[in-house]
Amino acid sequence: MKTIRTVKQMQQTVRKLVAQGKTIGLVPTMGFLHDGHLSLVRKARQHADMVVASIFVNPTQFGPREDFSTYPHDERGDLKKLRSADCHIVFIPTTREIYPKGFQTFVNVEKLTQILEGASRPGHFRGVTTVVSKLFNIIRPDVAVFGQKDFQQAAVLRQMTIDLGYPIKFIVAPTVRETDGLAMSSRNKYFSPETRPEAVCLYGGLKKAKAMVKAGERSTAKISRAMTKEILAVCPSAQIDYIAFNDLKTLQSTTKVEPGTICSLAASVHGVRLIDNMKVL
Ligand code: PAF
Repeated sequence: MKTIRTVKQMQQTVRKLVAQGKTIGLVPTMGFLHDGHLSLVRKARQHADMVVASIFVNPTQFGPREDFSTYPHDERGDLKKLRSADCHIVFIPTTREIYPKGFQTFVNVEKLTQILEGASRPGHFRGVTTVVSKLFNIIRPDVAVFGQKDFQQAAVLRQMTIDLGYPIKFIVAPTVRETDGLAMSSRNKYFSPETRPEAVCLYGGLKKAKAMVKAGERSTAKISRAMTKEILAVCPSAQIDYIAFNDLKTLQSTTKVEPGTICSLAASVHGVRLIDNMKVL
């Protein structure tokens, strides 16, 4: 596995690969990798000859009161994991490589970013779309793979891919969960052994929603109330940011569960902001 740290070297490598007729799969990450990330690398391998994983903690997608400065890092561990998943190239640029002095050009998807995570985290998606479009321009992938856990991010980036005309196949891979159901996330590291069991409350809420829909309930207001009860029963101190029901593709919000409705939620559990989602019908 080759490690590349500069944009110039990455571009030269891409040019060589393209000249050899190789297709490229990209898995963008912010590092501190877990099995969820590795499943994205494996998925990319199924669709491309060469897989590039990027590791870059992107400052522009963090709000002023968010965890940019404390975001976990483990480059050695990440490289070991990527090697074990048969990744071919890892791109680890510095902040200056991605945002050179004087940088002032941003990419913004206007509508899909107004709700859910976009409403709770102003400017977040502008940072995500800007960095991913830079990665698309530098690496020129044929395929890019993102996780379903960040389903709004996937919808926003898919829209950006269409709008800017990137010739990239867009793949969204399923959420990988811990044995108790907690969605894998680099932020799970923030929990202590005492608080970690309560982090499963989001998954518990989503399972409740799915069970109610299976039993015939379609009112999102009723399901939200039952989910809140379920979440607080597991973690009484949880602060629920939102529970939302939207169309998986258009993100249109709905008051009645319909085929293609996805339930998503964000909550702060012992000071750690978690998100999760599930297609309920
Ligand atoms: O999902 C993430 O880890 C990030 O938002 C991404 C897509 C790597 C952009 O920084």
